[in-house]
Amino acid sequence: MASNPDQARLCVLGSIIMDMVVPVPRFARPGETVLAGSPRRHPGGKGANQAVAAARLGAAASLIGTVGDDADGRAMMAAIAGEGVDVIGVAVDNAEPTGTAVVSVAPGGENSILASAAANLRLTPERVRACRGVIGAADVLLMQLEVPLGAVVEAARLAREAGTAVVLNAAPVPEAGNGGVGGVPAELLAMTDVLIVNESEAAAIAGPVQDLNQGLARLAGYGPRVVIATLGERGVRYSVDRGVASEVEAFAVEAVDSTGAGDAFVAAFAVRWAEHQAAQALDAMGILDAVCWGAAAGALATRTAGAMPAMPRRGEVVGMLRRTDGG
Ligand code: RIB
Repeated sequence: MASNPDQARLCVLGSIIMDMVVPVPRFARPGETVLAGSPRRHPGGKGANQAVAAARLGAAASLIGTVGDDADGRAMMAAIAGEGVDVIGVAVDNAEPTGTAVVSVAPGGENSILASAAANLRLTPERVRACRGVIGAADVLLMQLEVPLGAVVEAARLAREAGTAVVLNAAPVPEAGNGGVGGVPAELLAMTDVLIVNESEAAAIAGPVQDLNQGLARLAGYGPRVVIATLGERGVRYSVDRGVASEVEAFAVEAVDSTGAGDAFVAAFAVRWAEHQAAQALDAMGILDAVCWGAAAGALATRTAGAMPAMPRRGEVVGMLRRTDGG
């Protein structure tokens, strides 16, 4: 998978979605029509965004997912492969169209997304098992929840067997009616090394808590060694080994579109985690460094419209971290 032995190897399992991005003066309320600006189509999907971000950040990245047998599917494959991501694990399925999302972006960059997973729902545990070698060859398996839970759980199991670290971005949170912990299977959390969520996802999974720290502690109780909550302009809060929560401030940027900022965070964190893991430096400093990489990448991603087009390159992240260090 990696031609350079020092290169981090990331396997991303997740969604592949064509985004229709529309600027809106404000978000529509139920029953209301709001006139939007001209639409733009951009490749997206949390899985594809994170795989492309990992490649741009210098990792050898591979993607496991499903597209439909249609023009969007072919365009997505070309866009992802064109970024140097190995797409051997991407299946073409003719039962459903390629996933599509409508992304409304308000002035100031806040977004609201309606995603139709479509072909992404055709990712089965059997297809995941066919990718056992790709998962086993990676340092980190990175997943989100826009694909069926059965596939995610199976991939986590294969990763654990192979000694591949599991980083789970539990977005979006499944409906709680599905059982588990706020809709996320308890066995999945138990196989997860690092859990990354935003504030509302943390609340949905943890259930009623007094504050975010208690939520982080509750989530850590299900198994992940590291639990991270991304808080947008308020930075990041995280806990390691069920210890006291730490904070990293947000990087100040002029945001035009926050779509994909979470994906950039997750990918940069995972790439840096893999690099520190290979160097046997996953101590408190190494984890803090990975969180800072995530925060820098997330901030950079808000400066460009669209999700995948906004994923930053390694040099940009390093430059932002250096400027902040005064170096
Ligand atoms: O995280 C951003 C992504 O979420 C968008 O690209 C959209 O496709 C949805 O999956």
